[in-house]
Amino acid sequence: MSKETVLSTKHLLGIKDLTPNDINLIFQTADGFKEVINRPIKKVPSLRDITIANLFFENSTRTKISFELAEKRLSADVVNFSASSSSVTKGETLLDTVNNILSMKVDMVVLRHPTQGAPHFLANKINANVINAGDGTHEHPTQALLDSYSIREKYKNFNDLKVCIIGDIMHSRVALSNIFCLKKLGAQVKVCGPPTLIPKMTTSLGIDVEYDIDKALEWCDVANVLRIQFERQDEKFIPSLREYSTYYGITLDRVNKLSKEITIMHPGPINRGVEISSDLADSEHSIILDQVENGVAIRMAVLYLLAGQNG
Ligand code: CP
Repeated sequence: MSKETVLSTKHLLGIKDLTPNDINLIFQTADGFKEVINRPIKKVPSLRDITIANLFFENSTRTKISFELAEKRLSADVVNFSASSSSVTKGETLLDTVNNILSMKVDMVVLRHPTQGAPHFLANKINANVINAGDGTHEHPTQALLDSYSIREKYKNFNDLKVCIIGDIMHSRVALSNIFCLKKLGAQVKVCGPPTLIPKMTTSLGIDVEYDIDKALEWCDVANVLRIQFERQDEKFIPSLREYSTYYGITLDRVNKLSKEITIMHPGPINRGVEISSDLADSEHSIILDQVENGVAIRMAVLYLLAGQNG
């Protein structure tokens, strides 16, 4: 259990920078906020007079709504920016855009950007706290935190827990952040997918690769299933979706044949019938909607702890 009461970092740029104490502090803080958001009055005044800008240069449903809800539940003032309807389309740079927003006295910036390292670049240039809401194929730290928090809720601790991340590891920021987070918490981690979608550097992270989906499912307690990120692929990595779904798609039938119960997770958005069947996504094995619910409490905890560092 964490004894710390402050995070070791001013920004949340990636799980790579967090200590196990930071992660446990975020989880313990989220426990309190989860209780708050299940009350009839779901709001606390913790971030009153704090202004947060949500800057989304890439599409999002879950992360954007979840951050906005978390900010409003903490009583922060919120401004939302979407690149497609902004002056970015007229050629304005990321730094100019952010500096203009900051001149309007913004305290914290939540940034989703298609370029790896964009939040790190900003954090070096501005005084506001920066939270990475997903940068290219690099990291998606709040997704990994809510994923591990959801596992902790079900299994209580990570000792001897086996988690397999399945699918398009190559183009996934969720995979890398989950690997860092689960390893820091003491879980055993494997990845599984077609060889063309597993990066060569995977084993250098200290995790094993399994190419046989049925062996991977038999090994794990928790399967975190990822979609194929076609929007980040310039070339073809699999022969066809039908072939992918035959060899790597997870179905209720596949899970029911295992010798033990496993938990199915997915960060969303789901491509039903490709990486996961509808009957499995909607089954009692799945905690997909618990992940979404926990996302609000985790993001409240991150915002609260980072704001607390500003004195
Ligand atoms: N899991 C996730 O990041 O979903 P969105 O792209 O909808 O935010």
